[in-house]
Amino acid sequence: MVQKMVIPHSRPTLDGGDVSSVSEVIRSGQIVQDEVVGEFEKKVAKYIGVNGAAATSTGTSALHLSLLALGIKKGDHVAIPGFVCSALLNVVKYVGAQPILVDVDPETYNIDVHDLRKKIKKTTRAIILPHQFGLPADIDEVMSLGVPVIEDCAQAIGAVYKGEKTGSFGTLSCFSFYATKVLSTGEGGMVVSNSRKLLKKIRDLREYDNKKNYSIRYNYKMTDIQAAMGISQLKKLNSFLLRRAKIAKRYFSELQGFCDLPAVSYKDRRHIFYRFLIQIHGSVSKALESFSERGVTCMRPVYKPLHKYLHLHGFPNSDAVWNKTISIPIYPSLTDKEICKILDVLKQYLKRKA
Ligand SMILES: Cc1ncc(COP(=O)(O)O)c(C=O)c1O
Repeated sequence: MVQKMVIPHSRPTLDGGDVSSVSEVIRSGQIVQDEVVGEFEKKVAKYIGVNGAAATSTGTSALHLSLLALGIKKGDHVAIPGFVCSALLNVVKYVGAQPILVDVDPETYNIDVHDLRKKIKKTTRAIILPHQFGLPADIDEVMSLGVPVIEDCAQAIGAVYKGEKTGSFGTLSCFSFYATKVLSTGEGGMVVSNSRKLLKKIRDLREYDNKKNYSIRYNYKMTDIQAAMGISQLKKLNSFLLRRAKIAKRYFSELQGFCDLPAVSYKDRRHIFYRFLIQIHGSVSKALESFSERGVTCMRPVYKPLHKYLHLHGFPNSDAVWNKTISIPIYPSLTDKEICKILDVLKQYLKRKA
């Protein structure tokens, strides 16, 4: 029987270099958090252009520790956009704070600054600001509100805003190195900051052993095995970003007229195309089913907007984009043959508008 070629929505880009880096650590016998983690932290901090970094087990634990380091607790409010994964909602709840859900800009999928301004309260102690799908959010406008900002760069390592890397603006900034993120360590995360004091607090909270005083601490460490993979992946980041940009360029030129394409008319920021989102007319579920039957796995960009989980209303932009947006495969390991197939399948279904 001939196996049908199925193109996954996402796939890590791994090679022999990653394998040898990881093998070396395993052979050394020193596999838990140690020098290699320290080296990875230094390299990421240098790449982003900040004083320091603390590696964590996941992007979620990086966000959780950031909220704790800022002293966010019960009774506080934390603003988050609603068109993101539920990790953001979880971390706010982990510390007992109340989430303030903010609608998204329907063109950029980032936080809608007008809605944020309206919803911010005296008790708002932090804003978690993701750069969704690889496009930097309106950082200056959000920072001007005077509330500590945690940049969430889980989808945006290498993105640039006004000449500086995303992750260099927030009081603290978090990254994820989950298997299918831009850089992969299987699972993994990092907090970066210019504040040595906050990073010290995060390092203290990240591990529980050998402490003079008891307070609640966590086991959110990264291993040297993961860090070795991270260092190896980081070496390839520029080539990963170039390949993503090249695929995006091809999608832009070939899908023009078949669907609505991502907003890129920003001179002050660089989109890294962690995801390539198209907007279609008609049913998203039917389109996803049809693409899948033809061997191309596409997804909704978020499983569900957060307000739907909380049974809230009044998020018209999140509802509107959720009803028409599809995330199509884009990652460095996509072959040219696979890209042709994706384009064929999409074009056949979407048909060119007159
Ligand atoms: C914007 C954003 N923040 C945080 C996370 C959580 O990262 P992790 O899966 O590494 O815990 C994700 C994961 O998809 C994400 O997309």
